[in-house]
Amino acid sequence: MGEMLLEVRELTTQFKTERGYLKAIDGVSFDVYKGEMLGIVGESGCGKSVTSQSILRLYDEKQLARYHGEVLFRGENLFDLSVRKMQDIRGEKISMVFQDALSSLNPVFTVGNQIMESLFIHRKISKKEAKKKAVEMLRLVGIPDPERRFYQYPFELSGGMRQRVMIAVALACRPQILIADEPTTALDVTIQAQIMDLIVEMNQKLDMGVMLITHDLAVVAETCKRVIVMYLGQIVEEGLVEDIFDHPLHPYTQGLMSSIPKLESKKGERLHQIKGTVPLLNQIPEGCRFAPRCPHATEHCRTVMPQLAAAGNMQKVRCHYADGTHNLLS
Ligand SMILES: Nc1ncnc2c1ncn2[C@@H]1O[C@H](COP(=O)(O)OP(=O)(O)O)[C@@H](O)[C@H]1O
Ligand SMILES: [Mg+2]
Repeated sequence: MGEMLLEVRELTTQFKTERGYLKAIDGVSFDVYKGEMLGIVGESGCGKSVTSQSILRLYDEKQLARYHGEVLFRGENLFDLSVRKMQDIRGEKISMVFQDALSSLNPVFTVGNQIMESLFIHRKISKKEAKKKAVEMLRLVGIPDPERRFYQYPFELSGGMRQRVMIAVALACRPQILIADEPTTALDVTIQAQIMDLIVEMNQKLDMGVMLITHDLAVVAETCKRVIVMYLGQIVEEGLVEDIFDHPLHPYTQGLMSSIPKLESKKGERLHQIKGTVPLLNQIPEGCRFAPRCPHATEHCRTVMPQLAAAGNMQKVRCHYADGTHNLLS
């Protein structure tokens, strides 16, 4: 693997509520390497977005949230940085693209201006240079006729083109890490595939580390080498994509896998779904957090929290019965 860019160590994020602090992320640790595509998957509400927003310290630390643990970017703990220094990191070293390009782009500025703005924040360059660079970025992300598109407003572009603009804004300063949080969820299926291709192309061309956040394991299978599976604020399984797809060890991962549509599945055939829903933060179960939804849970699972433990090669899993003994019980 390449050089390590980001080390997340025991990250915990708590939100302030009327009834005290609620833990949305609880002791999450992982690394991101240069040039890699790392997938982070889990159902809605599992803490994927909170993890990525916490890395960039996007939640207000006085009003909304408090963080524990460390986020080391090339060895420097981002939680030790001043607000000013943190602004130098965002967009310049670590960039983010979100699901909703329409609300992330500013409706009253042309797309060219928004790319230039991102350059002006971090670089001392002339307007002329910035314009040249912005047009170059529009071309890089596959926007046809970039000189003309430069002068258009977000509403004049299709959803797919807007997402390309958002990627251009995020990549303008050539960040070392791109966090893509459900970057294609709001798009049509054919456009989704094009945007994913673009992200993979940018990952290769610019040699960035990419954190691809998605609820869709199939997307991860096509694009990533490593994957982290999150459930209710914790990592429950991680490893190489080929290993996890070949032999998922956590019942949650197994559930996610069996809900991927298969080519050979018959029309109208219902996909297996994991029963129940992700609990709210004030209803976190004792013991294994997945136990209430797990088809194999025992009394032990309901009382004792399993640790994330090595399970061969690069795979890790948080399950008391990951060695296969739950098969005897089912
Ligand atoms: N600003 C916030 N205040 C309080 N709770 C939040 C906030 N943002 C997210 N949460 C809660 O944190 C949990 C994880 O959310 P999130 O990271 O958005 O999930 P997802 O995996 O779908 O991205 C959810 O229970 C969500 O309701
Ligand atoms: Mg999310």
